[in-house]
Amino acid sequence: MLDLLHNRKGGAFVDPPCIQASGDASWPWRVLKQRLRLRSMSDDVPADVPPEIAARAAELRASLVEANRRYYEHADPLLSDFEFDEQLRELQALETEYSALATDDSPTRTVGFTASSLFAPVTHRRPMLSLANTISAEELAAWHKSMAEFDEGADFEPSFTIEPKVDGVALEVVYEQGRLTVGSTRGDGTTGEDITANVRTIGALPRTLNGDAVPSLLEVRGEVYMTKADFADLNAQLVAAGEEPKANPRNTTAGSLKQKDPRVTAARPLTVMIYGLGEVEWGDDQPASWSEARARLAALGLPVAPDDLFEQTADADALGDLVLGFQERRDELAFEIDGAVVKVDEYALRRRLGSRSRSPRWAVAYKFPPREGRTVVEEIIVSVGRTGALTPVAVLKPLPLGGVTVTHTTLHNRNEIERLGVRVGDTVVVIRAGDVIPKVVQVQTELRPEGSVPFVWPDECPVCAASVDAAEGEPLSYCTNIACPAQVKGRLLHFGSRRAMDLEGLGDRIVEQLVDVVGLTDPSGLYRLTLEQLTELDRMGERSAANLIAVIEASRTRPLARFLYGLGIRHVGESGGRDLAEHFSTLERVRAAEVEEMADVPGIGDVVAESAHRFFREPQNVAILDAFLAAGVAPAPAAERSTEGPFVGKTVVFTGNFVTMTRDEAKAIVRRMGGKASGSVSKKTDLVVAGPGAGSKLAKAEKLELEIIDEEAFRALVDGADA
Ligand code: IVH
Repeated sequence: MLDLLHNRKGGAFVDPPCIQASGDASWPWRVLKQRLRLRSMSDDVPADVPPEIAARAAELRASLVEANRRYYEHADPLLSDFEFDEQLRELQALETEYSALATDDSPTRTVGFTASSLFAPVTHRRPMLSLANTISAEELAAWHKSMAEFDEGADFEPSFTIEPKVDGVALEVVYEQGRLTVGSTRGDGTTGEDITANVRTIGALPRTLNGDAVPSLLEVRGEVYMTKADFADLNAQLVAAGEEPKANPRNTTAGSLKQKDPRVTAARPLTVMIYGLGEVEWGDDQPASWSEARARLAALGLPVAPDDLFEQTADADALGDLVLGFQERRDELAFEIDGAVVKVDEYALRRRLGSRSRSPRWAVAYKFPPREGRTVVEEIIVSVGRTGALTPVAVLKPLPLGGVTVTHTTLHNRNEIERLGVRVGDTVVVIRAGDVIPKVVQVQTELRPEGSVPFVWPDECPVCAASVDAAEGEPLSYCTNIACPAQVKGRLLHFGSRRAMDLEGLGDRIVEQLVDVVGLTDPSGLYRLTLEQLTELDRMGERSAANLIAVIEASRTRPLARFLYGLGIRHVGESGGRDLAEHFSTLERVRAAEVEEMADVPGIGDVVAESAHRFFREPQNVAILDAFLAAGVAPAPAAERSTEGPFVGKTVVFTGNFVTMTRDEAKAIVRRMGGKASGSVSKKTDLVVAGPGAGSKLAKAEKLELEIIDEEAFRALVDGADA
């Protein structure tokens, strides 16, 4: 404390002890400044608390209060949920150890944030509490034990319900005489904001409840959210309208509920899952448990957790597995969940257990590992791909996220850098959902270090220093030098990749040397390699050299479609290669085709046709193709497509698992029979073939009322046509 006072009086905050105590030297400058300011709060610290502890507690408290304010007032959180919980836990631990620190207004004892003045206040008839968190099976067991101890009952045998913890925004909705009268936010738990007009726009909530058993007063509580698909659609619409896409569904939901104009809310695809009750006048017919109440709410048409996401058990030892079951299904669900909530089912027992100031004793959240986090951009590098495209990549301070450590994320192109406004030194929000590649979704400009500068897009190729072709309005820029080593290596790797020429053994390390040591400048050179040249390469034994030569030999007659794809013609992907090969049948005819002929090929658009046509006219490429032929490469002509049968001109989507064929085989059958196999379901899909385990694609197909068949029916169609 003395040190602190001395520093403050002296006006110079050099190496302040509270910063050392936090042990993290890499915090951004703004945060440091904020921390320095906060230290003045430690003046009124109770005598028996060590000064660095008091300072840390004050710091945590201020950070949590500010995060709450930002979250509830501006729907724009400063901390991720995970960071918030971590800080809350740390503060809780300090307050437990030094009880003098535990003030009534501490964020450990309060919920949310005092309502903003934009909306009229609503006092909740019963406080809206939060939940204590657990993050392991041990903590779940400890929760169970502490309840048993609190209840002191010899026969403490509760049954439990488990439902998803929806990652959205808490809402209370009041029905009086069956009519929706008030919708409000949680606010500070006691007083929320009146957002009734906005809540009325949410389609999932009935405006009136029908039936014989409608309580005269019914307060329901739930989580408002957006499904992943609705969120993606919303972003697509925003981008199409030239607006900024939103960072994540939860913040967008919060923002949507806080609109002054309910028409804006109405245009947002919000929905609700009801998870509990406030005050209810049931009359003589009280439900005895949440599971019973839930069934009644469902019967009244209220959106509770669906049956397949609502588990019940009386076996406390089973809870760990049940919550993990939710975690495993996380990616399949249509909406984001950040945990599962375990609740004592019986109301009588809930009443005995009661609540602490912030959360009930009878419920607990089991939080999944976070998939959103914040980290610092240490560097922005520009890499050059096989087509010469320059791709910016953010090098990040390592961030553990959903089971992996993220160190790099692509920033896609220079437009994306401008859109995000990201600079070196910035603190960024990174998300990694499901199998999605991690991506930067937001820059926290308020944490930007002083003196940072916008990223300058290079006008030279970072690999070969050639000039960069950056057409106005085009997001991508390209290195203009086709002999650029980055392109040569990339092209070789692509040429040999599994779906192209499938040259097993042609990996990174060998390609490096083939370009740098042997001097290969394009893939045709592969067919002139000698055994001697290969055995001289680093860590290349005679056996593997001979194997690679054999693999290359055998690839001379790979199907034309693969060869075309392997050439890496801009805009010609796997299906483009296939379409061209099937239409023109031989390499000779593809090379000779005019641009109009190419554009006439089903599946080939103008952009692809022009790009392919230009490729085959480029003198350097002509020389390379001639070199292939001279080296004895003779791609196998493609079989012609059928012109009649059940799939001609049809777009087919496969989803789920199949027994008699792989998905690739199934797609190949459709293509051979004149159809198109697509990976995503849309209005343009003609047929969906669904196997067991089909998920969102099947659901979408059902919604669009598309024709859906199973594997057996698909086989019958194929066999019928073959016959
Ligand atoms: S029960 C008194 N059930 O999580 C306890 N909460 O971190 C009431 N949440 O404030 C909460 N899904 O906004 C409950 N199935 C669920 C939930 C859920 C999401 C939210 C809710 C709560 C917060 C606590």
